[in-house]
Amino acid sequence: MKGVVLAGGTGSRLFPLTKITNKHLLPIYDKPMIYYPIQTLVDAGIRDILVVTGGRNAGDFLRLLANGKEFGLTHLDFTYQEGEGGIAEALSLAEHFADGERICVVLGDNIIEGSIEEAVEAFRAQPGGARILLKEVEDAERFGVAEIVGDKIIGIEEKPKQPKSNLAVTGFYLYDEHVFEKVKGLKRSERGELEITDVNNSYIADGTMAFSYLKGWWTDAGTFESLLRANNLVAETKGKTESDD
Ligand code: DAU
Repeated sequence: MKGVVLAGGTGSRLFPLTKITNKHLLPIYDKPMIYYPIQTLVDAGIRDILVVTGGRNAGDFLRLLANGKEFGLTHLDFTYQEGEGGIAEALSLAEHFADGERICVVLGDNIIEGSIEEAVEAFRAQPGGARILLKEVEDAERFGVAEIVGDKIIGIEEKPKQPKSNLAVTGFYLYDEHVFEKVKGLKRSERGELEITDVNNSYIADGTMAFSYLKGWWTDAGTFESLLRANNLVAETKGKTESDD
């Protein structure tokens, strides 16, 4: 399985922090943000990775990450998203890289305590379709929110004012080779973006969407509050593991 890290967009919610640099190059405790999603993929056994960047600082990603040696990789792929047409638009740029294989997509600002390996293995065992990772949160209205009936997922609403559950759809998505056809069939949302939630709802409509629950803490880092939370969570977790050593 191949991995795709989506690190495009302008990070406008973090202005002026993102006026000069890209959101995914900002520090999360002792590393640039982009290190975390790459490490998540590597920890799940994924070695063939594409980074989708954008904005005015795309060259900085190449200088920072080079050939991926720091992650034990032998090479890294890069591509460039013009503008910020949405997560699904950024994903569409990975079609050539995926080359008909299954992919594990990670949003560049999603940071976790644990691992996605179990979900990746469960997806490998699926005949096809897709798999998402859900996490219970207190502020579901900030995210894509899943509606579950019995053991089935019946729909996802993007940032609903009145969430139907407290289960956020995290930024880890596993897709079969049909994902790019689905992206091509999308229409832009009210905010002018190609929405990943529409891709996921299309798999739900086909009856081929599975889900796992993410263990350990999870946070995004795209707002001042969540950026601070991400820093604190990583610092606390690191402090704990270092005192255990
Ligand atoms: O963090 C999980 C949430 O991420 C999900 O629950 C939502 O369903 C999903 O829509 C997304 O919500 P956000 O509004 O928080 O996404 P945001 O616009 O902050 O983008 C998240 C990452 O996706 C960003 O760090 C880089 C990548 N991205 C985003 C856009 C809009 C791109 O690569 N290109 C883009 O054009």
